[in-house]
Amino acid sequence: TIPDYVKIVEVGARDGLQNEKAIIPTNVKVELIQLLVSSGLSVVEATSFVSPKWVPQLADAKDVLAAIQNVVGARFPVLTPNIKGFEAAVAAGAKEVAVFPAASESFSKANLNCGIEDNLARCRDIASAAGSLSIPVRGYISCVVGCPLEGNIAPAKVAYVAKSLYEMGCAEISLGDTIGVGTPGNVSLVAVSYVVQASLALVAMLAGTVIPMLEAVLDVAPTDMLAVHFHDTYGQALSNILISLQMGISTVDSSVSGLGGCPYAKGATGNVATEDVIYMLNGLGVKTNVDLEKLMLAGNFICKHLGRASGSKAATALCKV
Ligand code: HMG
Ligand code: MG
Repeated sequence: TIPDYVKIVEVGARDGLQNEKAIIPTNVKVELIQLLVSSGLSVVEATSFVSPKWVPQLADAKDVLAAIQNVVGARFPVLTPNIKGFEAAVAAGAKEVAVFPAASESFSKANLNCGIEDNLARCRDIASAAGSLSIPVRGYISCVVGCPLEGNIAPAKVAYVAKSLYEMGCAEISLGDTIGVGTPGNVSLVAVSYVVQASLALVAMLAGTVIPMLEAVLDVAPTDMLAVHFHDTYGQALSNILISLQMGISTVDSSVSGLGGCPYAKGATGNVATEDVIYMLNGLGVKTNVDLEKLMLAGNFICKHLGRASGSKAATALCKV
């Protein structure tokens, strides 16, 4: 069985746009967010309060939040890597935040300039400050299946980080297959070649399996607080989502038109496209409250601005019908 209702967490305006080479004007981001809310999405991640030196694409976080203060109908969580970011987010009007530890030590250092334990301590500081302001905290775990630097990640490592997030009081834990290598099954391993840096081609054992990871996390955290966050680099996202739904998970992260990637995970393509997820869920008779046609307007808007074709197969096909 699968859940009757799935909550979609739309991450295009953050996870998507953080990885664009061009800097997107604030007003375009704001219009995208408004269009996404108009489609019925109830959670639209808006931006990140991270270092503008690390992610210049989101340097206008404060302005984006200011511009959407009066938009009703959705929650607008923002990413905060440390107390400095948390305080800036709260000052800008954020009512929900997200912390983002990794399950891989090397990726943690590349993405956050500190190791897993040090970063978990930062997350704890944020969780405790947020708790006293009644601000819900989402905890993302990146590299839950594979890491561009370390290869396969053991499910026990993911469960350890999930348990830490649960114990510090996170309201939701999102399991991120940052580089999209996971496959839906128990049978490991396939060798794939993965270019870690332009100059350095590494043949790594990257393809991991999703089920053992989910089982390990389900042992330490309640099913209803888990979310899955698949990138579609290897075309595995929808099948991984279906497996996750069959295991009882009912929150799915996705990105309009499949925008996205991660600046510290070279080669990672976008998140699974929200349009494709909605198309699948509609077909399965699962409620989402998202209007696919209106969602496609948001997708068309941002793709037109970026001058590129949609990364959503469903949107591309429906445009031709
Ligand atoms: P650092 O360089 O170690 O920071 O970066 P620092 O504490 O040494 O400070 C250096 C400078 O940064 C100082 O400024 C600080 O004030 C400033 P200076 O004195 O040089 O002028 N600074 C900040 N400025 C604005 N906002 C802040 C902030 N903190 C310090 N919050 C830091 C450490 C964590 C800040 C940096 O590594 C960073 O910003 N990392 C974020 C990277 C990022 O956003 N990655 C993408 C998101 S994760 C992701 O996409 C995965 C996910 O989608 C799940 C999945 O796909 O699997 C969530
Ligand atoms: Mg992501």
